[in-house]
Amino acid sequence: MQDTAMLQDEILRLKKKKNAIILAHNYQRPEVQDIADVTGDSLELSRAAATMDGEVIVFCGVDFMAETAAILSPEKMVLLPAPDACCPMAGMISAAELRFARTRHPDAAVVCYVNTTADVKAESDICCTSANAVSVVNAVRENTVIFVPDKNLGKYAARFTKKTILPWEGFCLVHDRFTVSDIAIAKQAHPDAVVLVHPECRPEVIDLADHVASTSGIIRHVKSAPENEFIIGTEIGIMHRLAKECPGKRCYPLSEKAICTNMKKTTLVHVRDALETSQPVIKVPEEIAARARDAIERMLAL
Ligand code: 13P
Ligand code: SF4
Repeated sequence: MQDTAMLQDEILRLKKKKNAIILAHNYQRPEVQDIADVTGDSLELSRAAATMDGEVIVFCGVDFMAETAAILSPEKMVLLPAPDACCPMAGMISAAELRFARTRHPDAAVVCYVNTTADVKAESDICCTSANAVSVVNAVRENTVIFVPDKNLGKYAARFTKKTILPWEGFCLVHDRFTVSDIAIAKQAHPDAVVLVHPECRPEVIDLADHVASTSGIIRHVKSAPENEFIIGTEIGIMHRLAKECPGKRCYPLSEKAICTNMKKTTLVHVRDALETSQPVIKVPEEIAARARDAIERMLAL
């Protein structure tokens, strides 16, 4: 095994040479987060991909995130260091299925979670992330919304709108596993802790939370809250930023088993090799990218 510090130095040298930026999701391995220019949630990383300078984006995350970066910055080379890092929820809907759903509800708007493939985004009216799903749903003109693919996020948004939400049946393999009994056990162990959960959790878990937010929203909440103890209901990769950025606070994962194996596929060796070889490149055919870009840019314009 190569030494972490040596690999990190090599990456920083190659990054400079290639005029690259490194973006990492909050669920990435700690040592990968530590070499990133930006570590954040899906919305922050999309904004960074659209606005930051550089010729190359190394996206430490999963495939839909790199695709979104490639759609927003077609002039940049986008690298996904672990090419098999995917989001299983994004695979729970296809463009053909969505086109069929539209024929069943011709007056509905389609809001797609950013955790979708580019061709599903291309069939959608507007994109959203966990940070802005409620405002996106409320911003569309139509009174009925087909919300894809996360049923839990769709049901969460439905709590804050008068519109009729038709949630797709997709779900996140990590968040959908949290249960009411996980919360009861964590609360018993830490009775004074504030419970923070991600909106991909099931409705009955959300009912028991004190606050619901995106991954970066959870970090902001811990930083600014007057309380000192927090139970964190999301993937455990977030614990690294919480420990670094909120040193005075005590944060406990809702479950130690909440691990997204795809988010953990990217290692420092992958990042170094991607920079060295300029591979694997993520490209989206322009015909699909143009339509998907409309849906993402409508969201970013909100
Ligand atoms: P965030 O946008 O909140 O970081 O969530 C992304 C994700 O994949 C959650 O599982
Ligand atoms: Fe997809 Fe869930 Fe992993 Fe996020 S945590 S990338 S939604 S499987």
